[in-house]
Amino acid sequence: MTTQKVKDWGKMPEVSIIALPPSRWRDAKQLRLEALLAVPSAFASSYEDELAFPDEIWIARLTSAYEWDGNMTFFAEVGGVLVGMAGAHWSSKAKLRHVAKIYGVYLSPEARGQGIASALMRQLLEELRSLGQFEKVSLTVNSEASAAIRLYQGLGFKIIGTSRRELKTEGRAYDLHIMELRLLQGRGPPL
Ligand SMILES: CC(C)(COP(=O)(O)OP(=O)(O)OC[C@H]1O[C@@H](n2cnc3c(N)ncnc32)[C@H](O)[C@@H]1OP(=O)(O)O)[C@@H](O)C(=O)NCCC(=O)NCCS
Repeated sequence: MTTQKVKDWGKMPEVSIIALPPSRWRDAKQLRLEALLAVPSAFASSYEDELAFPDEIWIARLTSAYEWDGNMTFFAEVGGVLVGMAGAHWSSKAKLRHVAKIYGVYLSPEARGQGIASALMRQLLEELRSLGQFEKVSLTVNSEASAAIRLYQGLGFKIIGTSRRELKTEGRAYDLHIMELRLLQGRGPPL
């Protein structure tokens, strides 16, 4: 398990950035369902879809075995409670294995505005970089999600395009920005 101290909060408990053991899948499930319920416009999955997942899927998500060929997620924990998460997945196919995709970035409302999302993303990007296989990291973000876009821009991500009316939820259609970060310079042909 990776632990990174973010900040001492005075009276508040310390925030840790951690990878969870599979035994804590219920905690991960609770936070993910909170995210899907609270901000449906931020995620492609719906609360109803994932509420129906069997336990095995939640466990597999923490062991890299679910759905994707490669998968890692970091969580922010305060006083034993998970308050944030950020994940990445990637294909092992030869034509695609140079790209990692970010997903599931979320902070509980009370944890926002304190640099925790940035710490989560930095830990995730550091781990991805250490694997040595990725030329770029990509993500999609709701074009109205100002805090998320600023977060990603602050980490060096650039908006490279916009998909119109890509996500529909709660009677509305949203545009999604496609954002990319070059991870390794000088590896492979220019993108
Ligand atoms: C995205 C999210 C994790 C960011 O966490 P956060 O703690 O709110 O992030 P910060 O407070 O550090 O804000 C990040 C940046 O956005 C800015 N920001 C915050 N709220 C903003 C708002 N309403 N409008 C514009 N900018 C905003 C901050 O000033 C900061 O910019 P800076 O680093 O240049 O100062 C969090 O807002 C969240 O969980 N949102 C809902 C889910 C979501 O949208 N996930 C993204 C899926 S792609």
